[in-house]
Amino acid sequence: MFSWRPEADRGASVSKLLVIIGSTRPTRAVDLVSPWLTRRTAEHEAFDAEIVDLRDWPLPIFSEHFGTVGDFNDPTYSDPIVKAWNSKIKEGDAYIVVTPEYNHSVPGGLKNAIDSVYASFAFRNKPVAFVGYAGGPGGGIRAIEHLAHVFIETEAVPIRNNVVIPSVNSAFDEQGEPVDPVTKAAADVMLDDLAWWSAALEKARAAGELAPGILRRQAALAAPK
Ligand SMILES: Cc1cc2nc3c(=O)[nH]c(=O)nc-3n(C[C@H](O)[C@H](O)[C@H](O)COP(=O)(O)O)c2cc1C
Repeated sequence: MFSWRPEADRGASVSKLLVIIGSTRPTRAVDLVSPWLTRRTAEHEAFDAEIVDLRDWPLPIFSEHFGTVGDFNDPTYSDPIVKAWNSKIKEGDAYIVVTPEYNHSVPGGLKNAIDSVYASFAFRNKPVAFVGYAGGPGGGIRAIEHLAHVFIETEAVPIRNNVVIPSVNSAFDEQGEPVDPVTKAAADVMLDDLAWWSAALEKARAAGELAPGILRRQAALAAPK
């Protein structure tokens, strides 16, 4: 397999990868996808992966504002779970978002979870990849396109090479492996790209980061003329 990292650097560091599971309903088809993806990420030398299942994060419908945030350096939020959620997301160096397609987009709960990362800039300057799936032939591609747009606004770096799984209910064999070899190949490419971007951005963040654009623009407008 193509190696993304020079021999000398291998094993030098691993990135904390958060795999966010975007469907929460009983009988969800993501339970076909996530065991395989968990094995795949665990096998990749670049990552220390953790599954972050939105079922375990019953976030309230987003309702934050400057009054609930309080101190921007240590935000309080409207509910302790929102604070914990922001802290959890902040732990990641890289992300994979696993999403079904609901009405040509993502589940409302997943969008709510992304919106709830508010004022902490926890996704900022970190790469994010997507695994989409659907019952039909589209394989979640429209959900992935929407997520790429959404994550630009979080100042994350959405990557190009993702995994698309059509007809999800027949996409895995009895061992839980994908039936279509394209799925495996796409996952390897995605993980290698994510590892490359994660290493590059970790290095860049360690060298120093600009303050978030929105804060710099506010500061520029508030400065005496
Ligand atoms: C509310 C809702 C909307 C859906 N919209 C789409 C859609 O736009 N495109 C599509 O291909 N499948 C759509 N589906 C089918 C889902 O892709 C399929 O049910 C899949 O199993 C959902 O993932 P989950 O079971 O893990 O929640 C929709 C399903 C639901 C429940």
